[in-house]
Amino acid sequence: MKLKDKIALITGGGSGIGRATALRFAQEGARVVVSDMDEAGANETAKLVKDAGGTALVVIGNVVNRIDAQKMVDAATSNFGRLDILINNAGITRDALTTRVKDDQVSMMSDEQWDAVLNVNLKGTWLVSQLAAVPMIKQKFGRVVSTASVGALGNIGQANYAASKAGVIGLTKTFALEWARYNIRVNCIAPGGVETRMTAAIPDNIKATLVERIPLKRMANPDEIAAVHAFLASDDASYITGQVIWVDGGLTVGA
Ligand SMILES: NC(=O)c1ccc[n+]([C@@H]2O[C@H](COP(=O)([O-])OP(=O)(O)OC[C@H]3O[C@@H](n4cnc5c(N)ncnc54)[C@H](O)[C@@H]3O)[C@@H](O)[C@H]2O)c1
Repeated sequence: MKLKDKIALITGGGSGIGRATALRFAQEGARVVVSDMDEAGANETAKLVKDAGGTALVVIGNVVNRIDAQKMVDAATSNFGRLDILINNAGITRDALTTRVKDDQVSMMSDEQWDAVLNVNLKGTWLVSQLAAVPMIKQKFGRVVSTASVGALGNIGQANYAASKAGVIGLTKTFALEWARYNIRVNCIAPGGVETRMTAAIPDNIKATLVERIPLKRMANPDEIAAVHAFLASDDASYITGQVIWVDGGLTVGA
């Protein structure tokens, strides 16, 4: 067991990659705090963890809200006495072309689309990390894994998402430098296409075009992302900090 007796907080744990990570971490011996805005989803993840013999607590909250974020961290420290691992996984998309002009009709990505994605994906990662670092610094132990994306390299219709995920890479490198002296390692993963609710809405023809561009010729299963979370959170990655691990079936190779 790679994470025996570790206490892990997983944001966005009510669905997709977050749920797979909660289950994998419990299998690896961790006790998990599942946080999400989606109460039903978070409860379902906790039930799956408990049914598999693990320990899970649920905290309902929004990663963008400081009071909620503090509750997530406090749930770990007050119930389990410490917080060892933070997985910053909560994320959203609100896609639109930045500026579109067709037949003299102008449409644009809205301020709301920009703000929502930057808030959840970037500010949420910054905020929960900032608060989680307090117990981690005190105990001189911590592992943070955040979620970037291949979208950080640029994607049509995703200026907001690309900027947020490129920002996560910058945060990761900065936190790694600030917190290395406290034995806190900070890394991020950059998935390509993963079969979750987030990608379920992509039309089949666009998905097929994406899959064609992936050298492994398929999208990832959420368990394949959870496995990388487990690796980075474990002592197997003891000399890795400040890095981006591209978990993309080779999509960005040569890009
Ligand atoms: N699915 C992919 O192809 C893919 C690719 C690259 C990166 N990612 C990233 O992986 C992460 C997980 O995505 P997923 O595919 O599992 O999506 P998902 O939609 O299945 O899960 C995201 C979870 O985050 C929660 N969430 C959203 N906003 C929140 C907020 N403000 N506060 C708390 N919880 C919130 C949702 O309720 C949901 O349970 C995201 O950061 C996403 O950007 C996904």
